[in-house]
Amino acid sequence: MSQIKGSVSSDIVWHSHVLGKAQREAANGHPALVIWFTGLSGSGKSTLAGALEQALFARGIKTYLLDGDNLRHGLCSDLGFSDIDRRENIRRVGEVSKLMVDAGLVVLTAFISPNKTERQKIRELMKEGQFIEVHVDTPLEICEARDPKGLYKKARAGELRNFTGIDAVYEAPEHPDIYLDGAKPVGSSIEKLLFILKNYGILPD
Ligand code: ADX
Repeated sequence: MSQIKGSVSSDIVWHSHVLGKAQREAANGHPALVIWFTGLSGSGKSTLAGALEQALFARGIKTYLLDGDNLRHGLCSDLGFSDIDRRENIRRVGEVSKLMVDAGLVVLTAFISPNKTERQKIRELMKEGQFIEVHVDTPLEICEARDPKGLYKKARAGELRNFTGIDAVYEAPEHPDIYLDGAKPVGSSIEKLLFILKNYGILPD
């Protein structure tokens, strides 16, 4: 009989390999963790995550950026924007992030990730201090005025359903690890991020 979806069969046993995260972190010279950007479409998540990745990479940090729009072209191309599909999208990203952290990387993710409980589950998947939630808080009016892909216009015209902030909910973090005002210039937000990230040991004091 096939196993129940979401459960792990007792016939599948975890194999612990000799080479682990600790050795990879030591080789890289910095801890591995996830910097998780959450916010509305058009809030600036991808731009900020991309700029931060460049800044970290330039400082010799081993990074990788997972971006919502890009993952939906491949790993998550079978998923839409219903509540259940978004939860599955975020679950997969959480699992991939966990593998990449195990590989010793500083992972940056840019997903709307609208559900508090799904973000919390990923925090719980990681070890203490390995999940840094960054809320890119940009008022809906600003996101809508930016509308880089013309999707807000479509959503307002009723051509696109379940659009976050219009007819689908976004649950903002109450206590993000890092709060960014998405209306501020990118440069000042990157400075703030680099300053705070010193507390996580990935950059020297
Ligand atoms: S999430 O809700 O599952 O976290 P994700 O970050 O992967 O979303 O993808 C969001 C991107 O998909 C948006 O930036 C936007 O370009 C596009 N998109 C297409 N349809 C929708 C929709 N109904 N709601 C939100 N974003 C959408």
